[in-house]
Amino acid sequence: MSYENILVDQPAAGVGRVQLNRPQALNALNSPLMDEVNAAMQAFDHDETIAAMILTGNDKAFAAGADIKELAELTAMEMLAGQSLIERFDVKGIGKPIIAAVSGFALGGGCELAMLCDLIVASETAVFGQPEINLGIIPGAGGTQRMTRILGKALAMEVMLTDRRLNAQEALQHGLVSRVAPIDQYMDLAIEIASKIGGRSQVAVRLTKDAINQAYETTLNAGLEAERRNFMIAFASEDKDEGTRAFIEKRKAVWKNR
Ligand code: CAA
Repeated sequence: MSYENILVDQPAAGVGRVQLNRPQALNALNSPLMDEVNAAMQAFDHDETIAAMILTGNDKAFAAGADIKELAELTAMEMLAGQSLIERFDVKGIGKPIIAAVSGFALGGGCELAMLCDLIVASETAVFGQPEINLGIIPGAGGTQRMTRILGKALAMEVMLTDRRLNAQEALQHGLVSRVAPIDQYMDLAIEIASKIGGRSQVAVRLTKDAINQAYETTLNAGLEAERRNFMIAFASEDKDEGTRAFIEKRKAVWKNR
C-alpha cells in the first residue's frame, strides 16, 4: 500500500516503523494521516515478521497536535456523528508493542498519540504539552485521562490548565517517558528496545503488554484477574516449555511464538 502522509519501513529485523510525514505542518494530525497511521499499524500487527513497532515524527516535531485547520471547519454535530478526526485516534486493538520515538514538539493530539503508545523514548529536545486550553477546547484524544494517570493530578492540572510544557528531563522524572537520549541517538535507542522485544517469545510479549495496559484501564481486582488469565495462557504455550528448558540446559531459548 502506498501512503501520502507517512513513511513506512523496517529499520531492523522484526521492527516496523511508521514515520509521520507532514513536516510543513509540524506533522499536524489530520484525518487522512490518521487513517494511514491506523492502516500501517494494522498491517504491521498482522505481519508475522514484525515483533514491535516504532511510531515517530522528525527531529523538529513528533506532532504539533490535531490539525487545527481541520478542527476549525468541523461542527460539534460532525464530531458527534463519530466519523471525525478524534475517532481516528482510537488505535486500540494492536497486539504488538508500539514505541513512540519523540523529538521536538509532542503537543495536544501529538502528546496524546505518544501516550497511546506502550512506551515513549525521547530525544533531549522533546517538549510535551496539552495546549488545547489556548484554543478554547480541551484534550479530546485521551489527554485528561492518560496524562493524569501518569503525572498525577496536580501536575496534570497545571499542564492542561496553563499550557505548562514539560521538557524531556521533566518527562523522564515524572514517568511520561522511559528513556532520554541525545537527538542523534534517540532513534537508535528506540530501535534497540524494539529489537530486544523482538528477541523474546511473542506470546509472552503480547500477554505482558495486555496485562500492563489493564493496570491503566481497569480496577486492581479486574487487572489481577486479567494477569492471572494471561499468566495461564503463557503457561500453556510451547514457549513456556522451551524457555524453562533452555534455562535449565544453560542455552539460549529458540522461541516458536506459540
Ligand atoms: N494544526 C495545523 N497546523 C499546524 C499545527 C496544528 N496543530 N501546528 C503547527 N502548524 C503549522 C502552522 O500553521 C505553520 O503552517 P504555515 O507555515 O502554513 O503557517 C507550520 O505548521 C509551522 O508552524 P509555526 O510557524 O507555528 O512554527 P513555530 O516553530 O513558530 O511554532 C508551535 C511551533 C509552538 C508548535 C506552534 O506551531 C503551535 O503552537 N502549534 C499548535 C499547537 C497546538 O495548539 N496543538 C493542539 C492542537 S488541538 C488538539 O490536538 C486537540 C486534541 O486533543 C486532539
